[in-house]
Amino acid sequence: MNKEIKPADGKLLIFIPGMGAITSTMLAGIFHIRKGLQKPIGSLTQMGHIRLGKRTENHSPLIKDFIPLADLNTIEFAGWDIFTDNMFEAGMNAKVLGVDQLMAVKDELSAITPMSAVFSKKWVKNIDGPNVKTGKNHMDLAEQLMEDMKRTMQEKGANRAVMIWNASTEAYKAPGEIHESLASLEKAMRENHEEVTPSVIYAYAALSLGIPFANGAPNFSVDLPAILELAEQKRVPIAGKDWKTGQTLMKTILGPGLKARMLGLNGWFSTNILGNRDGEVLDDPANFKTKEVSKLSVLDTILQPDRYPDLYGKYYHKVRINYYPPRGDEKEAWDNIDIFGWMNMPMQIKINFLCRDSILAAPVALDIALFMDFASRADFYGIQEWLSFYFKSPQTAAGLYPEHDIFIQLKKLKNTLRFVMGEELITHLGKEYYDYLAED
Ligand SMILES: NC(=O)c1ccc[n+]([C@@H]2O[C@H](COP(=O)([O-])OP(=O)(O)OC[C@H]3O[C@@H](n4cnc5c(N)ncnc54)[C@H](O)[C@@H]3O)[C@@H](O)[C@H]2O)c1
Repeated sequence: MNKEIKPADGKLLIFIPGMGAITSTMLAGIFHIRKGLQKPIGSLTQMGHIRLGKRTENHSPLIKDFIPLADLNTIEFAGWDIFTDNMFEAGMNAKVLGVDQLMAVKDELSAITPMSAVFSKKWVKNIDGPNVKTGKNHMDLAEQLMEDMKRTMQEKGANRAVMIWNASTEAYKAPGEIHESLASLEKAMRENHEEVTPSVIYAYAALSLGIPFANGAPNFSVDLPAILELAEQKRVPIAGKDWKTGQTLMKTILGPGLKARMLGLNGWFSTNILGNRDGEVLDDPANFKTKEVSKLSVLDTILQPDRYPDLYGKYYHKVRINYYPPRGDEKEAWDNIDIFGWMNMPMQIKINFLCRDSILAAPVALDIALFMDFASRADFYGIQEWLSFYFKSPQTAAGLYPEHDIFIQLKKLKNTLRFVMGEELITHLGKEYYDYLAED
C-alpha cells in the first residue's frame, strides 16, 4: 500500500487534559530540544531508525525522515487542569526536573496556562481545585470544551490537533448500559447521568470535532462501544490506555524473554512507593483498582497459562502501589520473581528499579501525539492497535486479545509504517541471504 498521506504542513496543536507532572516534564523537554539544549532521549519518533529492504542494503533512515511527522518546532500546546498553575509552576510543584532545567525554559513554560477543566470529585476524591467548569449538563460541558478547542486552534493558527489524556486516573467503574451506543451515551450526557465520567466528556468533545484522542491513564474513555461508534462515524483515530512506563515496561521486557526460553513462573510480586500527585490519587482504593486492573492483565497475555499450563498454570501475581510522599516522582519499584527451570529447580530474580515516572512517560506522550496526528493524515480511524507499544492495556477490536510483548509490538509498529509507505514488510525470515547454498 502506498497511501495518500496528507503532509504535516502548518501547525499541530496538542490538547492535553491534565497539566501536572507528565505534561510539564514533556513540555520542558520539548522546549529544551528546540533550543538545542537536550536530545529527545526515550522518543522513538525522534531517535528511532527503521530498516528498509535487506540487511545488505544498509538503509535505515530515522523514522521522522521516513514518514511525514510534525516537526517539533511547529507544535503548539494547550490544555485543561483543575489548578490554575502555568506550566512553569506545575513543573516546580512536580519536582521532576531541577530548578535550573525549568529556569532555562521559564518563558515558554509560563506562557502556557490551563483552561478550566471538566471535573467531578465523584471520580477523583483525593484532589480538588478551583479551575472547574460549570454547565447545565454533561453535553453542555462537552460543548464548552469544543468551544475551547475551536477558539484555541484559531488563536494559535493551528490547522490540526490531537488530544492526549494526561489527567488523574478516575475511580474504577465497569462500562454500563449508557456506553453501549452513541445514542445512549448522548442521551445520558443530556440527562446528566451519574455514570458519565469527565474523561468520556473530553473524548466525546475531541472526536466530535474530528480530533484524535489517546488515553494515557487506565480509566476507560475511548474503549467503549459508544465512543468507538463516534470515532468510526467521524473517521478519527483513537488509542489507549495507560502509558507503559516503569514496572510494567520491565514486565513486558522480561516476561517475553522467560517465556521464549520456556522457563516456568511460580510468582511475580511487584510493589512500588511513589509520592507525587498521581500517587496521592492512587491512594484511594477505587482509583487504585483502575490501575490494578490495567497492570495485572499484562502477564497473563504474555505467558498464556492456558496454552502452557505446566509453566504458567499456577503463578501468583500481586501488584501494590504505596503512596509515600518523601519520594515524590522518584518512584522505587521492587519485583520479586520466582521462576523454575530444568528438573523443576527454583530460581529467583530481583529487580529494584529506581525510576522517574514522568521522565519515562514524557517521550511516550510526545510520540503518541505525533503518531496520532500521522494516523489521522493517513486516514486511519478507529482503534490504532499498531500503537500498543506505548500502552499497558492496549485497546483492540472486540474479541481480540491484546499483544503485550514489547518486541512484537515494536515490529508491528514498524511494519505498519513500512506498509503505509509502500515498503516491503520485514519478516526476519532472512532465507534469501543463504539461497546461494541451495544453488550450489
Ligand atoms: N507517570 C507515569 O509513568 C504514568 C504511567 C502511566 C499512566 N500515568 C497516568 O497519567 C496520568 C498523569 O500522571 P501525572 O504523573 O502527570 O499526574 P499528576 O497528578 O501530576 O497530573 C495530573 C493532573 O490532572 C489534573 N486533573 C485531574 N482531573 C482532571 C480533569 N478532569 N480535567 C483536567 N485536569 C484534571 C490534576 O489536577 C493534575 O494536575 C495519571 O492518570 C497517571 O496514572 C502515568
